Amino acid sequence: MAYFETLGLVKLFGGLAAVNGVSFDVNEGEICGLIGPNGSGKTTIFNLINGYFPLDKGEIYFNGNKISGLKTHKICREGIGRTFQIVKPLKRMTVLDNVLASAFLRSHTKSEAVELAEKTVSFCGMTSLKDKVAGSLPIASRKRLEITRAMATKPKLLLLDETAAGLNPVELEEAIALIKKIRDSGVTIIIVEHIMKVIMTVSDRVVAINHGMVLAEGTPEEVASHAGVIAAYLGEDYCAAG
Ligand SMILES: Nc1ncnc2c1ncn2[C@@H]1O[C@H](COP(=O)(O)OP(=O)(O)O)[C@@H](O)[C@H]1O
Ligand SMILES: [Mg+2]
Repeated sequence: MAYFETLGLVKLFGGLAAVNGVSFDVNEGEICGLIGPNGSGKTTIFNLINGYFPLDKGEIYFNGNKISGLKTHKICREGIGRTFQIVKPLKRMTVLDNVLASAFLRSHTKSEAVELAEKTVSFCGMTSLKDKVAGSLPIASRKRLEITRAMATKPKLLLLDETAAGLNPVELEEAIALIKKIRDSGVTIIIVEHIMKVIMTVSDRVVAINHGMVLAEGTPEEVASHAGVIAAYLGEDYCAAG
């Protein structure tokens, strides 16, 4: 059995099958890129994985256990952390307190939580911002805070939902470096991202989604040169090498 495995995931919203039979595997230690047009079901897949939405059909296995059907906090405790496409920090709290709120999941005492929060803030390169109020941060730092909050739950598998959207080229390089650093620390990652540079740079494997179904999967190069993916998503002008 794969480290992480989805089997025939289905999610209906009224008459719409937002996710319509999605199966894919992720190996331990790899970065799996999830790409596809807006509305193709990527965020919904994340919401199914972390139990935010109940599945209409299908099963999810992680690290030898069936996790579909578990409550969100149980799934987080099993070791799946995530960020949200729409960043939602606790705006009036400082960066450190935001991270502290997540660190309590893995801590028995406040001092243990503080230690974990400080360590995670440092690992994610946010120490100079730790006393700033989250609502005052520019977008790149808010996105980084999202990742930091997720990391404070000590995930084994991290789901990143468009954490590079809205970043300038320098910030993009910093985000790529952080994603690689997280993977190198032993965390398996599934990343939803529109910026192909990020997908092509960090992914070991890519799964392309269209209309709630898997359209293609393979190496980044294989998926980026797949005729169906070019037609549905990348466009004829996309060049994998460029
Ligand atoms: N909570 C919801 N209620 C109703 N429809 C939803 C909900 N969330 C997503 N959808 C619909 O499901 C489809 C897939 O959305 P989403 O997973 O957000 O796509 P993506 O992340 O790939 O852009 C879209 O048609 C969207 O409108
Ligand atoms: Mg989305």
